[in-house]
Amino acid sequence: MTATDGPLEGRVAFITGAARGQGRAHATRLAREGADIIAIDVCAPVSDSITYPLGTSEELAETVRAVEATGRKVLAREVDIRDLAALQQVVADGVEQFGRLDILVANAGVLSWGRLFEMSEEQWNTVIDINLNGTWKTIRAAVPAMIEAGNGGSIILVSSSAGLKATPGNGHYAASKHGITSLTNSLALEVGEFGIRVNSIHPYSIDTPMVEKEAMMELFGKFPSFIHSFKPFPYRAVSQQGASTLQDFMTAEEVSDVVAWLAGDGSLTISGSQINVDRGTMNY
Ligand SMILES: NC(=O)c1ccc[n+]([C@@H]2O[C@H](COP(=O)([O-])OP(=O)(O)OC[C@H]3O[C@@H](n4cnc5c(N)ncnc54)[C@H](O)[C@@H]3O)[C@@H](O)[C@H]2O)c1
Repeated sequence: MTATDGPLEGRVAFITGAARGQGRAHATRLAREGADIIAIDVCAPVSDSITYPLGTSEELAETVRAVEATGRKVLAREVDIRDLAALQQVVADGVEQFGRLDILVANAGVLSWGRLFEMSEEQWNTVIDINLNGTWKTIRAAVPAMIEAGNGGSIILVSSSAGLKATPGNGHYAASKHGITSLTNSLALEVGEFGIRVNSIHPYSIDTPMVEKEAMMELFGKFPSFIHSFKPFPYRAVSQQGASTLQDFMTAEEVSDVVAWLAGDGSLTISGSQINVDRGTMNY
């Protein structure tokens, strides 16, 4: 397919955790808007404490096919965001291939369940090391290349509702996602002079493999008071495509709508902001 002009024509986006789920949806969407894509994913198990399977090489190859079907170019590589040298190498290779870097979507992350005072050190360390340290390493690898390219840009850090409120049963995840909120706000001030904007998104209940409904139900069965922190959606999403029920999870593509807006010039006035992508659940 031949690429057509889009609002992100000529720009390059780096997306982590791109093998599937929200990362694949963002890669495909930004490509459809005109961007060339650097897509990475670990494509391997990271720890026994993560009880659902992570992305695979086949899934990353599927992302490549989806991006190429839009007519855009893609550099895909299996990289763990805990490996700063590998992140720096893929950024350098992407800039060499595509000429610049404009957009970063730091999306890779993991989730596990347990009470803070009972979980193992391995469980704590895995979530903090990937979600918080890995997001900082992603920033460390990408931002110098964005500054060097000299075109300004937009950084979208993927936090969570758990990055703004208490979530019993995954306090380590909430700590990592609150850390991402803090990275967003400090970085926005540090890179503003280079024309780079930084915002965090705070999704809630997206239908992806990360959300293990049985594990959540088991937790709520054991600790019924925790359920109050995981509220149902207060409204149905109605669009030309149809309508959701109050019970339906949000889709990755709905989050991509917000990511595409933050990546593009339609959000030029917005930096250092926390954008709730949660169908209104933070409000009550
Ligand atoms: N699904 C939800 O309800 C929800 C809600 C709020 C926030 N989030 C956040 O959204 C982001 C995307 O999650 P998702 O819902 O698409 O889940 P997902 O599990 O489908 O996707 C996450 C991807 O990140 C990759 N990944 C994990 N560790 C990695 C590492 N060390 N290095 C490189 N890649 C790694 C995985 O292989 C996977 O492909 C995560 O940061 C998550 O915390 C998800």
